[in-house]
Formats: sequence, structure tokens, C-alpha cells
Amino acid sequence: MSAKTPMLRMDGINKVFPGVKALTNVNFRLFPGEVHALMGENGAGKSTLVKVLTGVYASDGGTVTLEGKPIQITTPLEAQEFGISTVYQEVNLCPNLSVAENIFVGREPRKRGRIDWKEINRRAEELLSTRLNLNIDVTRELDSYSVAIQQMIAIARSLNVSAKVLILDEPTSSLDTNEVEQLFAVIRKLKSEGLAIVFISHFLDQIYEISDRITVLRNGNWIGEYMTKELPRLELVSKMIGKELDVLAEASSNKRIFKGGESFLQADQVYKKGKIQPFDLNMNRGEIVGLAGLLGSGRSELARLLFGADKSDGGTIKINGKKVSLNSPKQAITNGIAFSSENRKTEGIIGDLSIRENMILAIQGVKGWFRYIPRKKQNEIVDEYIKLLNINPPNPEQLIKNLSGGNQQKVLLARWLITNPELLILDEPTRGIDVGAKAEIQKLMLSLSEKGMSILFISAELEEILRTCQRIAVLRDHEKVSELENDNGITQQDIMKEMAGGM
Ligand SMILES: Nc1ncnc2c1ncn2[C@@H]1O[C@H](COP(=O)(O)OP(=O)(O)O)[C@@H](O)[C@H]1O
Ligand SMILES: [Mg+2]
Repeated sequence: MSAKTPMLRMDGINKVFPGVKALTNVNFRLFPGEVHALMGENGAGKSTLVKVLTGVYASDGGTVTLEGKPIQITTPLEAQEFGISTVYQEVNLCPNLSVAENIFVGREPRKRGRIDWKEINRRAEELLSTRLNLNIDVTRELDSYSVAIQQMIAIARSLNVSAKVLILDEPTSSLDTNEVEQLFAVIRKLKSEGLAIVFISHFLDQIYEISDRITVLRNGNWIGEYMTKELPRLELVSKMIGKELDVLAEASSNKRIFKGGESFLQADQVYKKGKIQPFDLNMNRGEIVGLAGLLGSGRSELARLLFGADKSDGGTIKINGKKVSLNSPKQAITNGIAFSSENRKTEGIIGDLSIRENMILAIQGVKGWFRYIPRKKQNEIVDEYIKLLNINPPNPEQLIKNLSGGNQQKVLLARWLITNPELLILDEPTRGIDVGAKAEIQKLMLSLSEKGMSILFISAELEEILRTCQRIAVLRDHEKVSELENDNGITQQDIMKEMAGGM
């Protein structure tokens, strides 16, 4: 087959889930001997495309062609038989079985009706060493090996003799640098043998190290196919988030000059393995600090550590100069920290409770459920915040599920403002709400900060960050890579360059 003919094509693929158009007319071409990166922010449709290809989901239209012939793949087993192998993010092997058993479970070679253990071990050893350059004791339990090795064993299991395509959906998310290099060595070897490899990862550095070609998806739409060498990082990021580069070059009109304030919180080399690299962060009183980065770059992970929603693996956090431990949200709240999470629907609002009940949740939680806040007191507090935030309808007993997204968001904000925090962490507070509510929330943030509250503001909307923040911390590949002062003249593009790690 000539190098110019794709080994595999997907054309005009559609996939609808109830209420979501996950894929709209998506194309994908895969050539032998190449690593093709499938890129897009969370929810762009990458995994869905892979699952359509591997027969996990039936598509709602479109064609798949393998080596020039149209094919129908309706089950994962059929995909296997066509030579399409997949390794998902979650390694689904059996930790207590041996390496060899894991590779051959369900298809054990037999001799006179009995499982032939000697043969299993011999073949497993041969497979790992010839195809993956991995020489390990295959009789040991899977569990005794690192995640990276387990990952390779999963690859070995998925590679049968006729494998033509290998799909790796976020295989590196829990690997350290050395382990990633080990995996990449394997990928290069398989590629040199002519295998076509689909690689999905959030890590831009990895994409530029290992891939030859990139397909970008956004919101289930096909954005384009590019040679990695010819696609500058900045352009890739702008395609992923859907912003034109010239819009991004407009200068910020932020005229806020920070009047200064004592440091409230200082994080020093705080980290969590596999989630976020050691970072420093200083939050001054009355300051709004923006946290920018692609979805999946570690923004929420960083915030969760400051709120004790996840436990850090190391580093120190000081509040007002005193070392504190933030191992639970309750400790964080007691220390003056509040966190309005990104996931309004799943972590935030409770649909079947009223505005009032949703609002007093956090403060009641801190006081303890046995020290019930009297109803009269509740009504006073709730009325005050309904007015302050202009919540509509202004009826405390309205079930929150009947409110618009913007008003739900305001109730969530109120929940945290009632705890009277000194540091308010807002994770995407304006996502999916209308322009009016957005502007109100931004105005509120500014006025709270003028009264001395520190705000850590996570947002995918760079213009919003430029409008409200004095300082901008940028994350890339689960690491805080820089901090920018929001002086006049700074542009969205300046932030994007940091997000992308170069032009
Ligand atoms: N089984 C499913 N049921 C309903 N919606 C789904 C399902 N799987 C994915 N989706 C939705 O389809 C869209 C694409 O998701 P996905 O392919 O997982 O994105 P990605 O892998 O790029 O992060 C998202 O809006 C997601 O919520
Ligand atoms: Mg996915």
C-alpha cells in the first residue's frame, strides 16, 4: 500500500446521545506507520469517535473504510477481528493474575483440553520482548509492576497478530516522565513496524513529541487535519478553543491598578501526584487572580487542593503567615476559604431543594447539623442575598431546578458568600449562563474584591480574565508554568502562548 493511501477512513460520522450531538459530520484519516493525535477539549467528542470506530457505539450515519473497503463494525469483537485494537485510560486488567494470564485470559492456549501454562508463559514472554522490547518475569502478579508496565501489558493484550490500528485514549494521564518515555519508545517501535496509532492526550508537549498528524475536534465538529510539524502550538490551541488569532491579539483594556493588600494565602510547592505538579501561589487580600489553562490542564485540580476537596501529597499552605492543614472542605471553610465548583449540576445545586435550602447548605454544614439555624434567621439571610444578587424569582421557597442557569449560579455564589469567606475560589462561575447574568457576576466579583476579599477565578474565557484579574496564573499539562501581571497592553494571545508552551 502506498504511503499516500489512508489505511483507515471515517467520513461524515454522526453520533447523537439524548440531548447531545456528540459528533457532527466528523472525518478521520489514518495512515500506516503514523501516530495521529486526536485533539480537542473535554467533551469535544474524541472518545465517542473512538468508540464508534471500535463498535462500542453504533453511529448515526457516516462510513468507515479499511484498506479501501467499506466496513461495518458493530461490536468490539468485530473491531478486533478487523485488526483495530484499543487501550482505554482505565487499564482493565486483573491485578491479581499473572502478567501472562492477563495477556491470554479468555483465549488461553490449550493442550488436550487443559490450559497449557508453559505455553502461555512462553508466548507472553515472547510477545512482550519482541513487540514491546519489554523483558519482565511474566509469572509475577500484574500488581507488582508499575502503572506504565501495566499499560504496556494492556497494549500487548490488545495487539493480536493481525493488529493494524492501535488506539490509545489518554494512556499517559497517570504516568510520570520516565514512564511516558518508556511508553513512547514502545509507540515508536510499533510505528516503525507499520502500525497506525491513534493517540489521545491532554499534554501538548507529548503531542508535539510523538505525533505526525493532528485532527482537531471542537464541540463534536471536525475542525481540520494538519501535519504536526506545520501546525504551530498557538494555532492548535486557538483551533481547540475556537478563537481566531487576530481577536486574541487585541490588547486588554483593564485599567484596574491594584492598591495592595497583605498576603492572605501562600501555597508553597503544593502538589498531588498525577494531578498537579508542585506549585507556588500567593493570594493577596482584595486581589482577583485568574487561573487560565486548557480544560484538563489541572485548573480544577489545583483549586481542589486549596479547598481540601483533595488531599495534597506534599507542600505547605500558610494562611495569614501561619501554616495550616487543609485536608477537608470543612477545614478550608473554617480557615475562610470557599469554593464554588465548576460542576453546577453534579457538585453544586440540589435540584429538589428550595433556594433557601440550597443557600444555607454550606453555613449549616460548618455549624454542624445539630445546631440548626432558626428558620427566622434563615429567611433573613436568604432575603438579603436574593436582593444583593438580584435572584429571579425572588421567592426563597422556589425549587432551584426551576431557575435559569444564571440564577442557579447566583444561588451557589450566595451559598458561599454566606460563609463570609476571605478567599473565594470560583471555578467557571459564568459557564453556560446568559450574557446579563455573566456581567452581574463579574461586577459582583469586582465589588467583593474591593471590600478586601481575595478571589481565585478559573475561567476558559480569556477576555473575562483580562477584564477582572490583576494577576494571571497559567497552567499547562498539569503544571503551573507562569504568572502574568495584567498590565495594560497584555493580550489574550500573551496568555495563550503560555497555555500552549510557545508559538
Ligand atoms: N454514553 C453517553 N451518553 C450521553 N452522552 C454522552 C455519552 N458519552 C459521551 N457523551 C457526551 O458526548 C460529548 C462528547 O464526549 P466525549 O466523546 O467523551 O468527549 P472527549 O473524549 O473529547 O472528552 C460530551 O458532551 C459527552 O457528555
Ligand atoms: Mg475522552
